[in-house]
Amino acid sequence: MALKTNYEKWYETEDYFWGTEPAQLCYELVKLVPPGKGVKVLDIGCGEGKDAVFMAKQGYEVYAFDITTNGISKTRKMAKENNVEINAFVADINDFRINEEFDIIYSTGTIQYLEDDKIDGFFEKVKNMTRPGGVNWFNVFVDKPFIPLPPDWDEGEKMWRTGKLFSYYPDWKFERVDETIFVCHSSGVPHVHCMDVLVARKYPKEIITVEDLNE
Ligand SMILES: C[S@@+](CC[C@H](N)C(=O)[O-])C[C@H]1O[C@@H](n2cnc3c(N)ncnc32)[C@H](O)[C@@H]1O
Repeated sequence: MALKTNYEKWYETEDYFWGTEPAQLCYELVKLVPPGKGVKVLDIGCGEGKDAVFMAKQGYEVYAFDITTNGISKTRKMAKENNVEINAFVADINDFRINEEFDIIYSTGTIQYLEDDKIDGFFEKVKNMTRPGGVNWFNVFVDKPFIPLPPDWDEGEKMWRTGKLFSYYPDWKFERVDETIFVCHSSGVPHVHCMDVLVARKYPKEIITVEDLNE
């Protein structure tokens, strides 16, 4: 089946389309779930690996996938150059299968590639794959009547309705709920995005008591 993304082409060059510095979200995640032996992370739509490599360098056990073979080759190359190991593989967010549990599952700039009929199942899957006490960190571009479609909007991408992302986590604790409007320089043409961000934690207990909070 033909890829519904231009990233395979955009990742063909030697240099890194997204650079090599980790996103701010990685520093946030390190504070929320500190690294340690056996603490597992999944990066969904890892691109060329800058965030996955950073997380591996912190000491997490990292799994990462992207639909592009060029992105995964570059992720493996960056991991090797940084002397870390990553379980990096090619997969589609719409039908990936991993028989593992994670303490952190995150994805930046990618869940808008979910097909409409795959969204509910995706959240059920990632929530089930998260260990109690673990977190999910997701962002997604949302539609606003006052913001034009970006010039590099990809074939498989879909704008989400504001707040939809948050609606999948009523049974988890919200660590951060946010909506931001910002300028993006991808493709070399500055443009505006609106993005919803959710960081939610799977509560480690079935029932919370007064004593739990007084501890
Ligand atoms: C905006 S980029 C973000 C990349 C990376 N998370 C980062 O921040 O550097 C979106 C990524 O989603 C990937 N992608 C597009 N469609 C996908 C799909 N169906 N399944 C998995 N990844 C996909 C692209 O290849 C690209 O790497």
